[in-house]
Formats: sequence, C-alpha cells, structure tokens
Amino acid sequence: MAYSIAIDGPAGAGKSTIAKLLAGKLGYIYVDTGAMYRAMAVYFSQNNVNPDDEREINAAVMNVDITIEYIDGAQQVILNGDNVTKMLRTEETGKMASKTSKYASVRSKLVDLQRKLAKTCDVIMDGRDIGTTVLPDAFVKIYLTASVEARAKRRYDELMAKGQECSFNVIKEDIENRDYQDMHREISPLKQACDAVLLDTSDMDIDQVIEAIEAVIEGKKKQIN
Ligand code: DC
Repeated sequence: MAYSIAIDGPAGAGKSTIAKLLAGKLGYIYVDTGAMYRAMAVYFSQNNVNPDDEREINAAVMNVDITIEYIDGAQQVILNGDNVTKMLRTEETGKMASKTSKYASVRSKLVDLQRKLAKTCDVIMDGRDIGTTVLPDAFVKIYLTASVEARAKRRYDELMAKGQECSFNVIKEDIENRDYQDMHREISPLKQACDAVLLDTSDMDIDQVIEAIEAVIEGKKKQIN
C-alpha cells in the first residue's frame, strides 16, 4: 500500500518548502497540486479564456492535458506536451489559478490526476483540499497556517531578496483576497480536515516545522504498531 501525507493550508504558509524538504528526508515523492491549477491557469490565459464564464472554462478544460514528470526529484508540469514549470510561479498565474479552481470541471480533472499519482507511490501532497477530498484516507494530515501578517512578511522578504520592488500592504491584501476566494468557493473549499493536525507556523522556523511534522508521523506510526 502506498503511504500518503497531506499538507493543506492557505497561500504563503510555507507548504511547498516544508513538503519538499520532508519528501527528500523521508524518500517520498512531493506532489505540488497548486502547480497543476496554475498550469490550467496558464492555458486559460494563453487562450484568452474568460475566467468568469463557466461554459468557456468547461470547453477549454477538454483541450487541456496535464501530466507530471520528475527530473532529479523536482516536479515538472507538462501542459499539452510543453514543460511549463518555469511559468507557474507568477502572481498573475496564482490569481488566475485561485479564480478558476472553483469550477467542477477544473477540479475533477486535476483531482483524478492527483489520486492516480498517490496510488502508485508514497507521496507528500500539498494543496487546499488534499486531506478533505483528494486523499481522505491519508496516513497523516497537516493543516499548515500562519497569520496573514507573517505570510505577507515572508513573501515581501522573498521578493525584496530577489530585488523586486513591492508593497507590503498590496501583498497582504492579495493574500487576504486569495484566502477568501479559496475558503469560500462551493466545491472543496480550503478548510482543516477534522482529523488534521493544526500547525501555526507564525513564530516557527523551517526546522521547527519539520520537527513538529516528523513527531506527528512518528506518533501515528506508534499508534498503528
Ligand atoms: O498553492 P498555490 O498558491 O500554488 O495554489 C494556487 C491556487 O490553486 C490556489 O489559490 C487555489 C488553487 N488550488 C486548489 O484549489 N486546490 C489545491 N489542491 C491546490 C491549489
């Protein structure tokens, strides 16, 4: 049986950094599901699909083929034969992904792909609905969050370190909007699964978060042995 670890939480909580490191340590495959919603968003933008028109979205989804590959352990997202991985991490794509991830056609296509991946190997999967919908029987579920201020500060520092001018208040507002959108959509909104462990990382560094999750995994293993 393949083991799975689900990490859900809002934008900027550090899910992907933590999930990637943990996957390396435990020898699991890291699956970044946000990247799949972002690849869909790239397709919609490139093809001028109106994100507010569900019929246009549904028609477009039928023309999208997304597959996942790994190069040196790093996830690559292939959109209709092209590797779009490097195009996914922009603010615009993130906003488009948040807007269009509310549609059933988008979600069911990507949830199928995610479940198939989890069947074939041990995965650490991060996203918004992994513990609640995609892998309800995950071995361990973590809900990783942090205050809006802490998340905005991390993003601000990250952009400044790259030499990109930005405004803390604009970043904070974007995060608040994205939280609202992700938590209030009808299908699979972001929420903590009832059997997920809540970790608020506002005052924790990366090592402390990793340690805390490893402790949860160890505890779970003891429970079943
Ligand atoms: O984690 P991220 O910022 O890459 O995700 C981008 C958007 O994709 C997020 O705002 C909502 C959507 N998403 C989702 O609805 N379900 C997931 N499992 C992952 C992401």
